[in-house]
Amino acid sequence: MFDTDKLSGADALLEAQKIAFGPVIFQCARLLRDWGIFELVKANKRGLSTQEISEKLSLPIYAVEVLCESGYSMGALKLENEKYTITKIGYFLLTDEMTKVNMDFNHDVNYIGLFYLDEALKTGTAAGLHETFSKEETIYPILSQLPQKAKDSWFGFDHFYSDAAFVKLVEIMSKKGIKKLLEPGGNTGKWATALTAASKNTSVTILDHQGQIDVAMKNAQEKGVGERVDGVAINLLDHSIDFPTGYDAVWMSQFLDCFPPSDIINILKRSKDALTEDGRVYIVEPFWDRQTHEIGSYTLINTSPYFTALANGTSKMYRAIEFESFVNQAGLEVEEEINGLGFGHTLMICKAKQ
Ligand SMILES: C[S@@+](CC[C@H](N)C(=O)[O-])C[C@H]1O[C@@H](n2cnc3c(N)ncnc32)[C@H](O)[C@@H]1O
Repeated sequence: MFDTDKLSGADALLEAQKIAFGPVIFQCARLLRDWGIFELVKANKRGLSTQEISEKLSLPIYAVEVLCESGYSMGALKLENEKYTITKIGYFLLTDEMTKVNMDFNHDVNYIGLFYLDEALKTGTAAGLHETFSKEETIYPILSQLPQKAKDSWFGFDHFYSDAAFVKLVEIMSKKGIKKLLEPGGNTGKWATALTAASKNTSVTILDHQGQIDVAMKNAQEKGVGERVDGVAINLLDHSIDFPTGYDAVWMSQFLDCFPPSDIINILKRSKDALTEDGRVYIVEPFWDRQTHEIGSYTLINTSPYFTALANGTSKMYRAIEFESFVNQAGLEVEEEINGLGFGHTLMICKAKQ
């Protein structure tokens, strides 16, 4: 994280104001993007006045003034001779895919629910979810029934990060000669379809809520791998239900972070019991202590309050050292760790402790 000791008093006070006005800046940046102001200003290198922006986009001059002045204060727009031009920050807000999915996720899924973060933290319940989308205990059973924008942004966020890691992971895993892979939390079947398409002798069983299984089966059929992908609807938090057995791999990607430590350890124990003698548990997670740049750790750390207020009230983004401890407590040990996959994912390969 940036070295706060080096800031002058005035600079530190300014940083504090950026936090105090964070939600205001966020909403203005989003509208500068969504109402086409960044796009227009980017296309006009010599700059545009508020009057010109207002006319070209058919927006009230008052709205353009309020948004552009905020854009200027956040460093996304430059103001010279009464004309606005775009800066590097504005350029990234407009064009960078990661910034886009993060902003959409924070607006469409999290923004209103985060108002209830205090209650969620104190009670360990998804209080923000209950005030916005559903009275369910967690967001997972209702993912496929979220309002369209929230659903698109949730899956856009989830898939953006896992898709990037899957390219290299398919290459690694398709060389392992795995015949039967069990995938708790297999979601829409992205991994199952990608792996089975690349590895013709592999079949995958997904364990997830019924809504996700239905989507995953449809996707597998459409991708021509339906015969080697099947699914079982199950509540993975019901620890009295054993996993099916006889698998040479149990694969969990961006899944265990949905749970608090006690559930993670329990799921890992059941994963170990699902393995054949030489089987391995494969965990894919973006750990915030394994990031090579502050951008990664900042994004991950600040995803945790989504888990508290909206997802379940109990989980967060973890560090690799925390996971090593969970793995050991489940009777497993880390055999190998591969870092730097996609946007900073780690593959942890675990075997049963001797
Ligand atoms: C963050 S998504 C992970 C998606 C996917 N593995 C990936 O890498 O993109 C978590 C998945 O776990 C499932 N899940 C969470 N809690 C569950 C539970 N108690 N029972 C069954 N599935 C659950 C969700 O439905 C969702 O599909």
